[in-house]
Amino acid sequence: MKFFIDTANLDQIREANDLGILDGVTTNPTLMAKEGIKGADAINQHYLTICEMVNGPVSAEVLGTTFEGIVEEGKKLAKIHKNIVVKVPMIKDGIKAIKWFTDNGIQTNCTLVFSAGQAILAAKAGATYVSPFIGRIDDGSWDGVKLIEQIVNIYNSQGWMTEVLAASIRNPLHIVRCAEAGADVCTCPLPSILGLLKHPLTDIGLEQFLKDAKNMQ
Ligand code: E4P
Repeated sequence: MKFFIDTANLDQIREANDLGILDGVTTNPTLMAKEGIKGADAINQHYLTICEMVNGPVSAEVLGTTFEGIVEEGKKLAKIHKNIVVKVPMIKDGIKAIKWFTDNGIQTNCTLVFSAGQAILAAKAGATYVSPFIGRIDDGSWDGVKLIEQIVNIYNSQGWMTEVLAASIRNPLHIVRCAEAGADVCTCPLPSILGLLKHPLTDIGLEQFLKDAKNMQ
């Protein structure tokens, strides 16, 4: 399973990248706005900066909702850097646009996916990635990871190449369960990635080893 970081914050991207385990980045308009990025030039520059920091796919979301608007925006985003993946919402015009991008060699990430039916459409349109939002599903008292399992099974049985990118991750257990479910990618906030490091027995064990090491000097 590949690890993407789900943020537009450069410090957090740098920290995750320095760990050596980062495969890519996802952003969305909420995450970009949180960094105070405003206007087309600043947005494009920010995506370029991220692409120059991380050697892997960087999802940049379109803001338009019509087929023509999405295609125009996506073409411009794709020109920023070879690693840009155009992120397109799961709507009728979005599916049409994903098919257009597929036919024109532009990578896509179909976002805001909450059902297996939506994931089937994304794969049929040739999306590079499909992003089921598991945390938001959990928020409604459903089990988001079950959707990941369902989509992985469907794609495997159909031989579809679209990669299942588990999104809306809220905690380290989500990451573990997504790996068990066979997700191709998990896009995570930095605290969830760092949370994977934690175990009290590791801390207790290391403290003892360091104490005993002093007796060896
Ligand atoms: C990433 O691709 C998604 O936009 C993101 O994971 C959504 O996360 P949230 O549900 O925490 O906003």
